[in-house]
Amino acid sequence: MNIGIDKIGFAMPNYYLDIKDLAENRGIEPDKFTKGLMQLEMSVAPRTQDIVTLGAAAALEILDDEDKQLIDMIIVGSETGIDQSKAASVFIHSLLAIQPFARSIEIKQACYGATAGLEMARNHIKNRPNSRVLVIASDIAKYGVKSGGESTQGAGSVAMLIKKDPKIAILNNDNVYQTRDLMDFWRPNYSIYPYVDGKFSTQLYLDCLTTTWNQYLKTNNKDIEDFKAICFHLPFPKLGLKGLNSILPEDVNNDTKETLNKNFNNSIIYSQKVGNIYTGSLFLSLLSLIEQSNTLKAGDNIALYSYGSGAVCEIFSLTLVKGFKENVKENRLEKDFSTRTRLSVAEYEDIFFKTIEVDNDGNAIFETNNDKMPFKLEKIENHKRIYVKNNK
Ligand code: HMG
Repeated sequence: MNIGIDKIGFAMPNYYLDIKDLAENRGIEPDKFTKGLMQLEMSVAPRTQDIVTLGAAAALEILDDEDKQLIDMIIVGSETGIDQSKAASVFIHSLLAIQPFARSIEIKQACYGATAGLEMARNHIKNRPNSRVLVIASDIAKYGVKSGGESTQGAGSVAMLIKKDPKIAILNNDNVYQTRDLMDFWRPNYSIYPYVDGKFSTQLYLDCLTTTWNQYLKTNNKDIEDFKAICFHLPFPKLGLKGLNSILPEDVNNDTKETLNKNFNNSIIYSQKVGNIYTGSLFLSLLSLIEQSNTLKAGDNIALYSYGSGAVCEIFSLTLVKGFKENVKENRLEKDFSTRTRLSVAEYEDIFFKTIEVDNDGNAIFETNNDKMPFKLEKIENHKRIYVKNNK
């Protein structure tokens, strides 16, 4: 039975910051960000947008009524959870009006969680061929004003519908994974921002990549020439490029090298405008590749490198199916990206870092009139988050 991605959707907040504005304000040469990190813009979430509202909006883009009747599991991968106990997927299940006899859970392991979710979805459908599983990767990456990672922040969510006979790509069941107990990036419960050993994190990302890639090729008896594209977790696009260069053999043929480089460029277009969205970043790279490449065709294989600090990583592959291109969005750049509002640095500092404070009774109300997203956090009442659907 072929199981894989039937639909894939994306949501980001309506605000963005131009990375050159950030560089100039911080007294940094803009080229450091635009060329050194290959980052151009960053999505900025107001406090009325969180992993629930973004995740629900990403899923709303793809689901129809039949999906909502047949989905029996919702998995959210996230490391920016809004509750230590209740899973974000329970809120999302309700906002999307999915039939009641569904399982809703949240998976955490830094940027890796949704990859485990995908594998869980595949196994679930193997046992229940008529099921559909909604896997959502949703995160808001915040390092703080003037922090070392400030230029690599972002916000957004990718939703994938997993089922048998998928219309986009088959999951090939060739996954190879690795765990290393190391501290490159982590966020203790008492801290709103992560701690990060920036340089070490990039070395660990690359070392986990090369060692897992070699093991993946060996285990599956594959070669880099079996792939038309490789998608990477993209904390910033330049690290993905370093990753690609680190696994390209010296004697690789020129056609393969050119194809992989061209498709790499297609895979980073959205992330360059969104920033790091942790668990969603790898799947945003896949979405960008599929929507922006004009050369990929049915039968082409795509390898994916998932990396979550701490660290767990995984390499697996997908095969595109006939008609995949008709099942993704056209003109996302024009329709979604170009309609965002550009913020000044002062506005970004205000909007992105405004915290939620409740009064003594556990209440807080937000100014939500400007929030045009499909769902928003309207208020907190007696410590309970109250989400609403936007009627505008
Ligand atoms: P930094 O100190 O801001 O930058 O740290 P840098 O000094 O390393 O410079 C960056 C690049 O810009 C360098 O290129 C410079 O040469 C170049 P490279 O040598 O690496 O090729 N550069 C210039 N280029 C052109 N013109 C110029 C110029 N100046 C310098 N004028 C760092 C960068 C990524 C470390 C920092 O932003 C950071 O700490 N970010 C957060 C951590 C991170 O993203 N780590 C990535 C791996 S870990 C991961 O992926 C997991 C994660 O997503 C979390 C999770 O799993 O949950 C983060």
